[in-house]
Amino acid sequence: MSFLSALFYDKCMKATEDACLIDWRKDLLKDINGSILEIGAGTGASLELYPKTDGLHITLSEPDKNMRAQLEEKITSKKLSNVSVLPCPSESISSDDNSYDYVFASLVCCSVNDVNASLKEIKRVLKPDGKFIFLEHVAAESGSNRRKWQNRLNPFWKRLAGNCHLNRETENLIKAAGFVLEDVKRESMRKAMSLVRPTIRGIARMS
Ligand SMILES: C[S@@+](CC[C@H](N)C(=O)[O-])C[C@H]1O[C@@H](n2cnc3c(N)ncnc32)[C@H](O)[C@@H]1O
Repeated sequence: MSFLSALFYDKCMKATEDACLIDWRKDLLKDINGSILEIGAGTGASLELYPKTDGLHITLSEPDKNMRAQLEEKITSKKLSNVSVLPCPSESISSDDNSYDYVFASLVCCSVNDVNASLKEIKRVLKPDGKFIFLEHVAAESGSNRRKWQNRLNPFWKRLAGNCHLNRETENLIKAAGFVLEDVKRESMRKAMSLVRPTIRGIARMS
């Protein structure tokens, strides 16, 4: 992301965050405890939505230096002591095997270079009984008008929007990586551009 895109990211997302994302993030994160890695944490939209539990240690990874600068500024200004930051991409996470109780991704699988490699890494760093929590915008139903436009505009969109793909079939990719989906909600992302409205969110465990 350019310096300017990172600088205005929170402002651009505010209406959508207020309309639905904040509630979805809170709901997904409400029961967690132990250790969590959030991949592609961006500017830290979820930072304040983690439960205020003593036993929670949060690791945020963010490879983009401009997004990471915003993230680190928020952590410092909020004096959060249970949070650490890694600069690695999700395709090569700089953590040992079996490190985390949870991995969380929100609006990230659309943007990574290699979703399959990222999911393999997520499995590697999760403990055997760990859980992958996800909130992603995804491809619209196959054959729908919206899907046709997603396919058409994807080559241009990903260049403009930090490698964000409009038409990734993320749910299928998560299943194909060997995760078992416990619970998936499919909902329209309110106050967002039509092409990114279809979302999935839920929890997957290791098979
Ligand atoms: C749309 S933003 C979402 C940020 C944040 N997760 C949120 O919910 O607001 C996508 C993020 O994915 C990050 N990203 C892009 N490629 C990545 C990769 N290979 N590994 C990890 N994060 C990546 C971007 O730098 C950006 O911060």
